[in-house]
Amino acid sequence: MTVLGLMGSPKAKGNADLLLDRALAGAESAGAETEKLVAAKLNMAPCIACRGCEAAGECVVRDGMTEVYPKLENADAIIVATPIHFMGMPAQLKALVDRCQPFWVRKYRFSRPIEKRRKGLFIAVGGTNLPHTFDAIELEIKSFFHCLNVEYTDEILIPEISEHGDIADREAALMSAYRAGERLARTVLEEAG
Ligand SMILES: Cc1cc2nc3c(=O)[nH]c(=O)nc-3n(C[C@H](O)[C@H](O)[C@H](O)COP(=O)(O)O)c2cc1C
Repeated sequence: MTVLGLMGSPKAKGNADLLLDRALAGAESAGAETEKLVAAKLNMAPCIACRGCEAAGECVVRDGMTEVYPKLENADAIIVATPIHFMGMPAQLKALVDRCQPFWVRKYRFSRPIEKRRKGLFIAVGGTNLPHTFDAIELEIKSFFHCLNVEYTDEILIPEISEHGDIADREAALMSAYRAGERLARTVLEEAG
């Protein structure tokens, strides 16, 4: 049982990174194997809307994203952890999400969705507590999960964490990420029988 973690921040050891590490540790404690992908390190270009994927449901651009597709397809659960950038997601994570257009083509043009239904946890951290801070990104992640047949099962949205690594002093928030990761993995394992 594999839980795939997607880290959206361009900053290593920043707030989203630390939260994701805790969530993955929680998943491992429940018996899952985990893998972490850092969007900023994938050496991939953003989608150029060439529509090449409309021919066979495969991306025709060969780069760092090529080996990510099977990981997204085969994971039993996905955890996305990201900071808010201008009320949305960082460009690096958005590039990864947009490059999932081949899955959209397969699902809606070819009626060939990813068959395995998976579960997903969303973790976001923002520097402010302005109204609507998490609204746009939540919709984007729901759309991303839906496209990949990932059920949006849980979320942790943490406002007012602004400085690099501030989350390290917020043990309750880190613990809630751990527990959510543990819960996610346990649920998937129980449903698998
Ligand atoms: C380019 C940029 C845009 C940001 N935009 C927002 C925003 O719209 N709302 C918000 O609450 N925080 C915003 N922030 C603050 C980050 O979400 C916050 O500092 C977060 O804790 C960073 O997490 P990280 O350490 O994982 O990168 C922004 C930060 C950057 C660098």
